[in-house]
Amino acid sequence: MTPERERRGAQLVAKYPNAQSALIPFLQACQEEDGYVSGDAIRDAAELTGITPAEVESIASFYSLLFKEPVGKHVIQVCRTLSCMLRGADELRDHARMRLGLANGETSADGRFTYEEVECLAACDRAPCLQHNLEFHYDVTPEDFDRQLERWRAEEPAVTMPAE
Ligand code: FES
Repeated sequence: MTPERERRGAQLVAKYPNAQSALIPFLQACQEEDGYVSGDAIRDAAELTGITPAEVESIASFYSLLFKEPVGKHVIQVCRTLSCMLRGADELRDHARMRLGLANGETSADGRFTYEEVECLAACDRAPCLQHNLEFHYDVTPEDFDRQLERWRAEEPAVTMPAE
């Protein structure tokens, strides 16, 4: 673990009643630094929290905003679960793929956009929905997607990933 990462980890652990509670904030901090959760980050997190790297990886896999590979500045996640499927997620998915020129899980060559299809985003009453970094978009039509895409193309991410 680098001295800086060790210092950051100690700060986070000090905030919680036990070291394991610092796991996700620590991984977020690593992702903020590296652009994704690297193998080194997994090992560092295991060392910090006293659990195994396999356990860290397993826990991290539940979090759709922790990435195992480098991602674009704009991460667009379209829900593909039942409520959204019943309300047009198929059309939204096809439209998003076409407009971005990306398949599920791909990042654009310029490193700006990553497109993913994800499980329920817990906004089923406003289906179909998508998440852009930490920002939710509800009742999304293809036309809404186009408007948002123009905005995202014109600016840096509206919402940055938190370090803690
Ligand atoms: S099914 Fe899409 S948010 Fe729940």
